[in-house]
Amino acid sequence: MKARKIKDRIYWMGSVDWDRRLFDSLVPLPDGTSYNAYLIEGSEKTVLLDSVDPAMADELMGQLEGVSRIDYVIAHHAEQDHSGTIPQVLEKYPDAKLISTPKAKGMLIDLLRIPEESFITVEDGETLSLGDKTLKFIHTPWVHWPETMVTWLEEDKILFSCDFFGSHIATTDLYVTDEGRVHEAAKRYFAEIMMPFRNIIAKDLEKLAPYDIEMIAPSHGQIYPRPAFIIDAYRDWILGPPRNTVVLPYVSMHESTRQMVDYLVSALVERGVGVEQFDLAVTDIGKLAMALVNAATIVVGTPTVLAGPHPYAAYAAFLANALRPKAKFLSIIGSYGWGGKTVETLAGMIPSLKVEVIDPVLCKGVPSEGDFKALDELAATIAEKHKENNFI
Ligand code: FEO
Repeated sequence: MKARKIKDRIYWMGSVDWDRRLFDSLVPLPDGTSYNAYLIEGSEKTVLLDSVDPAMADELMGQLEGVSRIDYVIAHHAEQDHSGTIPQVLEKYPDAKLISTPKAKGMLIDLLRIPEESFITVEDGETLSLGDKTLKFIHTPWVHWPETMVTWLEEDKILFSCDFFGSHIATTDLYVTDEGRVHEAAKRYFAEIMMPFRNIIAKDLEKLAPYDIEMIAPSHGQIYPRPAFIIDAYRDWILGPPRNTVVLPYVSMHESTRQMVDYLVSALVERGVGVEQFDLAVTDIGKLAMALVNAATIVVGTPTVLAGPHPYAAYAAFLANALRPKAKFLSIIGSYGWGGKTVETLAGMIPSLKVEVIDPVLCKGVPSEGDFKALDELAATIAEKHKENNFI
């Protein structure tokens, strides 16, 4: 694809990656993604913001063919999907300086072996004049690594945000046209890479509040012509109270745990609690991460296998522990054949979750009447706790 004009002397460059289905060999990308770079031509200086994943380098280098001079390249983030083609760009424009935070400089040297003399580091709030356009660098750590920053283009009121506010969507629409679709993709993206750092990101959001942002141009997905939409969504994901919902990741081998799951879901719904249920044997793990953004309670359903939780349930517990969602309560349900340490093992896997553990319900073999009664009690306890906390 050729470069596309956003405003006078401001261009989208980069690549739409329609076929990528996995990020970091972990994160599912059902809708592909894009790597957005941007070119700004000031009256005196020209700047390239970020680059593209090395697999797409040829596309960016092709777009730069008609660009005779670049004075600065800005690296908002050291991760290679944005920085990976910077060495090629610097080779083409040997006089260009690479602008980054001090922390990103070290990481870019480590990851890409960029020579130290190429760098100019910028402090939080520092500005750079391109002649008739002015850039301001705002440090916004942990969106998504500790070294990240964003760039504010003062005259045009555009915020170039890199991973911050991004979404994994491959499309030819440069601007957001379907906010519902983007909300889902951006929430998935937030859940997978930013949720654990939300307390710091809350401060990043606060820092951006004084700016009269007319457009947000991220480095994945579409440009936001109505920034309030995505800023409000982030506020909800980060600062909003948990919702009156249960996330129920489970796995079942011989249907006993599945019977318990079905019963508990029904018992919760009867008591006015919403449930999102995921069969870990087949689920898209990104959907599970997304459900964790707002849920007040997590219930893990697992059979006992080799004296412990099923490996898929252990994976879900590990993931939840790493993502550190805002859930306040957790329980475990499942069936066992003769014994084991399922509850102890799972409980030991979630030290980062600040949750109250509600008594688990484990049954021997297929669930009996007494087990269903225990599930009713579990549902009642969860509903009561949500009510006490005014989770709606
Ligand atoms: Fe899109 Fe953290 O890189």
